[in-house]
Amino acid sequence: MSINTKEFYSILASKMEASAIREILKLVQNPEVISLAGGMPDPITFPVEEIKEISQNIFNKKSAQALQYSNTEGLPELRRCILDHLAKDGNNGELENIIISSGSQQGLDLVGKTFLSPGDVAIVELPSYLAALNAFYSYGGELVGIPMDDEGMQMDILEEKLTQLKNEGKKVKFIYTISNFQNPAGVTMSLARRKKIIEIAHKFNVFIVEDNPYEKLRFEGEPTPSIYSLEKNGSVISLGTFSKILCPGLRLAWILGNKEIIRKIAILKQATDLCTSILSQLIACEYCQSGKLEENIKSNVQIYKKKRDTMLNALEKYFPKETVWTKPQGGFFVVATLPEYIDTGEMFKEAIEENVAYVPGAPFFADRKGQNTMRLSFCFPSAEDIDEGIKRLGKVIKKRIKN
Ligand SMILES: Cc1ncc(COP(=O)(O)O)c(C=O)c1O
Repeated sequence: MSINTKEFYSILASKMEASAIREILKLVQNPEVISLAGGMPDPITFPVEEIKEISQNIFNKKSAQALQYSNTEGLPELRRCILDHLAKDGNNGELENIIISSGSQQGLDLVGKTFLSPGDVAIVELPSYLAALNAFYSYGGELVGIPMDDEGMQMDILEEKLTQLKNEGKKVKFIYTISNFQNPAGVTMSLARRKKIIEIAHKFNVFIVEDNPYEKLRFEGEPTPSIYSLEKNGSVISLGTFSKILCPGLRLAWILGNKEIIRKIAILKQATDLCTSILSQLIACEYCQSGKLEENIKSNVQIYKKKRDTMLNALEKYFPKETVWTKPQGGFFVVATLPEYIDTGEMFKEAIEENVAYVPGAPFFADRKGQNTMRLSFCFPSAEDIDEGIKRLGKVIKKRIKN
């Protein structure tokens, strides 16, 4: 008789289900399907030759170090490079303010592990990054969503919600925001809202977790100072990653914040993976020291800008007039909103039959609303596929529009 695995799962494992995106990505293996679903960077942005050369060099000169364990906080030289890179935008810190993580996904998990006990509240945007929601849920966090408009999270609603939660005796630990070119919505928080969120966080004595993987992928407009750079009391924890500006395969990211919090995160990371791959860290470090990162970012911006333009033009051409969509100034994603009577989860099968895929919006919403929204990614497919994919999707949606 085979073992009944279900009897053995922890409460957490029993509760956690496969993410909608992972399940969808399985369905889009068929090469005929144009996928506007995944959030993977375009491999043409990976500096393969440089990484090859750097790796060779490392194995020639530092193989013992490269193949060894390392310290939990991360390679000091790499942390220094990242701090220098961040300081250009006013994101200042010392070595003790930064820890390397194995991707920002690990960073989010560590944030959950550090702050959340069952029943604690984390405030999130509606919609928000699904894998962050899952990381916070996994520690028993209760997620309370705040709607966004064109300027990001709506601060009057945030303040009302925090007042209500306080009156109910709930412990709110942090407000999670993706301040630039949000995943999934593509929205950027305005400067006024950034100032306001700090004021509100201070008033209610909560942390802000600013997840910022797309900040450098700005196609137009002036950069807005990060919440981290605007706040002076050490209550912002900022997450950044090499995934979108170099490559995700190195699994390298960082957490920047209050020294005490970073120290605590290091202790918790020891129980997670001891240290982030030192081989990856050495590669990224040499790459940054060569001065090529800034060049690579510039070229990435050009590549993704073209794709964004193609997607926005295609949406204008092919989507029915009853739909609206966000117009991101950077990043990877657009969210389209269809008439309320269309459930994008139900419509997904019809899209697959037309050989096009997207991510239905509901899983991104902590309140499980947003059934009539969809996330469309322009990062991975070619410009031709983006145009054709949106054309196919437009056809699918038009069939569901009521006259
Ligand atoms: C908002 C956001 N945070 C974090 C991550 C995770 O990035 P990483 O590859 O560094 O784990 C992603 C990846 O798509 C993301 O969109």
